[in-house]
Amino acid sequence: MITRSADVNSVRKLLQKTARPLALVPTMGALHEGHLQLLRAARAKVGPQGTVAISIFVNPIQFDKASDLENYPQPIEEDLALCEAEGVDLAFTPERESLYQSDHSVIVQESLLTRHLCGASRTGHFDGVLTIVLKLFNILQPDFAIFGQKDFQQLALIHRMVRDLNLPVSVIGHPTVRAADGLALSSRNSRLQAHERADAARIRRALLAARDLRTSGEQNPQIYLNAARHHLLIDCPESFSIDYLELVDAETLQLVPTVTKPSFLATACFYGGVRLIDHIAL
Ligand code: PAJ
Repeated sequence: MITRSADVNSVRKLLQKTARPLALVPTMGALHEGHLQLLRAARAKVGPQGTVAISIFVNPIQFDKASDLENYPQPIEEDLALCEAEGVDLAFTPERESLYQSDHSVIVQESLLTRHLCGASRTGHFDGVLTIVLKLFNILQPDFAIFGQKDFQQLALIHRMVRDLNLPVSVIGHPTVRAADGLALSSRNSRLQAHERADAARIRRALLAARDLRTSGEQNPQIYLNAARHHLLIDCPESFSIDYLELVDAETLQLVPTVTKPSFLATACFYGGVRLIDHIAL
């Protein structure tokens, strides 16, 4: 039986009776197979006797566009049914007011790994993410926390926060879960129009096509970027545009002059107002 708590104080009390170890999967809901795989990884980590906890909270302070926040899907009853079916023990579904005081004034800010990619294109986004994740860690005190590699900049930032602030939690990254055509699963995919959804595998195809250059030993970032841009834009629908396309060092997330160390080719693209991200390791 899943226990649901919407209140910070009552979840604290519940935790005193909760079996350890506890693995937390933080989400914003609208759960899909990607989220469910994180829940299964959490169960595998803690075993049948441990606790699998999920948080479902559409965190207002990480949205840089009001329209994105307003349109974010929130099918809470379906989400809870999926959690129940996955054997989740605890669902924390806080109300906004119980998490953020109206005059809250402390945030977590990172200054290096946020310079490029989504950090540059979505001002303040990662301050919001790190702040809510630290709050969730403090409230739920997980032994493990599972995050998707799909959001690799987010994952890198959480690892950095845990290291730099000495948080007593072990962070685990889980591989990206994709639809059959290669599109990375995302809660935002449901907002694509049918023809856009049918087209959206172009993002993955473009990254794969660029990665193919690796076999010839190509070291010039621009060549990779040009190839990816070509495949992203060729015969694309009118509503499609590129937010960013960048090649960064896999560890520092800084732009690289030559591709000699492990790197990520990463992009964010729009179909109308729907923003999708993906990346590939080089
Ligand atoms: P959300 O987008 O709901 O994602 C919750 C978790 O699921 C994240 O760790 C994300 O990386 C992972 N995830 C999403 N799609 C995935 C996929 N296709 N394959 C594997 N993992 C996937 O990320 C957030 O919420 C928020 O920023 C959050 C961390 C909860 C803070 O508010």
